[in-house]
Amino acid sequence: MNVAIIGANGSIGSSLVENISQDKNYKNIYAFARSEPETKVANVRYNLIDYTEESKISFAADITDSTGPLDLVIVTIGMLHSEGIKPEKNLQSLMASNLEHVLHTNTIIPAIVAKYFLPKLSKHSRSVFVALSARVGSIGDNKLGGWYSYRMSKTALNMFIKTAAIEYKRTHTHSIIVGIHPGTVDSELSKPYQNNVPQNQVFSPEYSAGKIADVIGKLDLEDTGKILAWDGLIITP
Ligand SMILES: NC(=O)c1ccc[n+]([C@@H]2O[C@H](COP(=O)([O-])OP(=O)(O)OC[C@H]3O[C@@H](n4cnc5c(N)ncnc54)[C@H](OP(=O)(O)O)[C@@H]3O)[C@@H](O)[C@H]2O)c1
Repeated sequence: MNVAIIGANGSIGSSLVENISQDKNYKNIYAFARSEPETKVANVRYNLIDYTEESKISFAADITDSTGPLDLVIVTIGMLHSEGIKPEKNLQSLMASNLEHVLHTNTIIPAIVAKYFLPKLSKHSRSVFVALSARVGSIGDNKLGGWYSYRMSKTALNMFIKTAAIEYKRTHTHSIIVGIHPGTVDSELSKPYQNNVPQNQVFSPEYSAGKIADVIGKLDLEDTGKILAWDGLIITP
């Protein structure tokens, strides 16, 4: 089987590469990231990807053509904070430029990546596309408020997943398109905000990657369009 992991240098992304590399079912493993990884896993095909132009994303997707259709695509791309950007505590903290940046990173880039990688999925056997989403993107589950930009970006990503799943059901009858919430995971993304979560509920990236792999393994066609958590339970939209 062939797999592409896009966003392979992040905590969860690199752990997914490691996890999948140990699964003998995967013959060709493509790992795409914006920069060279600090450490490389043997037998993984590392490639740089540039999200600034669609033609460059398309070029990256075409690299996978040499080994045939993909059976699994995982997009891990996402940000919660960066220099000058913090999740908003209240409406007055909302800034158009920050909102645009978060929506661009968490929704627009994954959607355009999907535009070029979804057509690479195998049409004739079970194939899966996963984007890492977040429970805070659930409208029904929003009890606390705050984190406007991040919440909005993941809610929009979830809508993208659902919409693409409906379209693909018509043409790619063996494809499953889902979002997966990885749990609260110890990473650069979550580090400043882990105090809100009991320490025993913060997963290591390796543990989360194992759980994500388990969920992917159990997906069936009925699941397409859903947003699931690391434990396989459905997250309400
Ligand atoms: N950690 C958590 O507690 C948690 C909880 C819920 C959901 N998630 C989701 O899980 C995913 C992975 O998060 P993580 O915890 O592994 O965080 P991380 O270590 O910070 O990794 C972030 C990933 O996003 C990519 N990325 C970040 N900013 C980008 C930008 N401006 N343009 C393009 N790509 C960018 C990075 O790509 P490169 O590989 O190219 O560097 C990296 O792979 C995210 O989508 C996040 O929203 C995480």
